Amino acid sequence: MSVGLGDVAPDFTAETTEGPISFHEWKGKSWALFFSHPKDFTPVCTTELGALAGLKPEFDKRNTKLLGLSVDPLTSHEKWQLDIKDVTGNTVNFPMIADHDKAVANLYGMIHPAATDTMTVRSVFIVGPDNKVKLTLTYPASTGRNFQELLRVIDSLQLTAGYSVATPADWKQGDDVIITAAVSDEDAKTKFPKGYTAKKPYLRVTPQPDR
Ligand code: BEZ
Repeated sequence: MSVGLGDVAPDFTAETTEGPISFHEWKGKSWALFFSHPKDFTPVCTTELGALAGLKPEFDKRNTKLLGLSVDPLTSHEKWQLDIKDVTGNTVNFPMIADHDKAVANLYGMIHPAATDTMTVRSVFIVGPDNKVKLTLTYPASTGRNFQELLRVIDSLQLTAGYSVATPADWKQGDDVIITAAVSDEDAKTKFPKGYTAKKPYLRVTPQPDR
């Protein structure tokens, strides 16, 4: 099954390092970053999980819960967490699903058989408070993810959910944003009291509205 933008993130129950969870119930009205890694006790995955654990306070600030998955068993996750702490200094501080029967991985299309049919790829799903999928991303096993980029995307998603704006290439907090096409020039004057610059009729930029 493939899960696309705007779809309701499929619900499931699973065993995790923090006990059994029912995804929608566990997530509640928060945002969630749900990701798979290929395999425990592998080098890139070790760096990824340690990096993410270190960034958890940043995800907390954004009301975003973290949830990992691989097809390894719970005992393996638990032993590997000691290595992650040893290597990166960070204690894994979010649940990791032990998806030994690949049920959740198949539900989310996290196994790409032409890459490998025994492991999950590096999938990411950002899920909004409405349980709908806001971002999907797939990296190969050989490339570790950039979690600062995922924080940046969450900042963009949370800003654009509240205002009629979009964020330009390489946008970061505090940069100007783009007024969406649905807003007329007339309405833009009242909706964006800091004013805007029309670089083209279809490209109107304004200071970030929530600052
Ligand atoms: C890694 O995390 O380094 C890795 C995992 C699976 C296959 C290859 C590399």
